Amino acid sequence: MLVVNHVSKSYGKFEALKDINLEFSNGVYGLLAPNGAGKTTLIKMLTTLIFPSKGEILYNGTNITRLGEKYRELLGYLPQEFGYYKNYSPKQFLEYIGALKGMDKKVLEKRIDDLLKLVALEDVATKKMKKFSGGMIQRVGIAQAMLNDPKILILDEPTAGLDPKERVRFRNLLSELARDRIVILSTHIVSDVESIANEIIMIKDKQVLYKGSIDEICKIIAGMVYETSIPYEQAAMFKKEVFSLSEKQEDGLLKIRFISKKAPEPTWTAVKPNLEDVFLYVYRDDIQESSAP
Ligand SMILES: Nc1ncnc2c1ncn2[C@@H]1O[C@H](COP(=O)(O)OP(=O)(O)OP(=O)(O)O)[C@@H](O)[C@H]1O
Ligand SMILES: [Mg+2]
Repeated sequence: MLVVNHVSKSYGKFEALKDINLEFSNGVYGLLAPNGAGKTTLIKMLTTLIFPSKGEILYNGTNITRLGEKYRELLGYLPQEFGYYKNYSPKQFLEYIGALKGMDKKVLEKRIDDLLKLVALEDVATKKMKKFSGGMIQRVGIAQAMLNDPKILILDEPTAGLDPKERVRFRNLLSELARDRIVILSTHIVSDVESIANEIIMIKDKQVLYKGSIDEICKIIAGMVYETSIPYEQAAMFKKEVFSLSEKQEDGLLKIRFISKKAPEPTWTAVKPNLEDVFLYVYRDDIQESSAP
């Protein structure tokens, strides 16, 4: 069990995170927040690359700084900016990382073969990575993070640059991996955590705003989400009264999905909230595209 206990982090005078409290046991955790919210800051503390200004992080009751190398041996990490050598093949690259980790050569070779199969790169195992797609590179990144069969796997924005097909494959891979380890991934893309994360952590204003299952988090706006269709001329006026979540054209009308706290009109249909609705609503002032009610 990994426990974050009253952790704050400042960069000079700027406080990036404030009094973070979290607990992780086996399963997939989705750290979901817009750009600049502090996801990487939290992840770097969990990987001992930087240290909390206040508070502590414990693994099975011991401070991870005190565990030092013992803790890092349990850790697999894919950084947001994953550096690889484009003239290497995946196999060469993994051999190189394994050597840095001081892994036994025989164990390493077997592990590399297994991992390349797991991430479906066995056919290109000896091909130079320079012609690889973003998704293929990310899979090499996941394989390198998995080399030491980590008990804690931490992935910072692992789905950036993946196409929709690669995303699906990636989600399946992660749920497979999470059976017997802690998997923590950060993203600002709701759909990437929606189907795999057991638990969602949302950070806002430097703090953990919500932590819970998707169903629990969606309850926040239960009974407030509706859909209705209106003529285009009324759209501007209508959107002053409600918080628009999404809009599309349908049969010459504007079909709008929105949040309203007022008693519903007869023409409104109540709908079940989803995580995307919560995300848009919670970060309405932080995300540029959305308009405030
Ligand atoms: N080394 C640093 N020195 C000063 N400020 C920093 C440093 N690293 C991050 N910050 C600031 O801390 C805040 C949180 O940054 P962080 O990178 O953790 O966010 P993030 O959620 O990972 O964002 P993104 O989605 O863009 O990766 C931001 O305001 C950022 O500018
Ligand atoms: Mg980041």
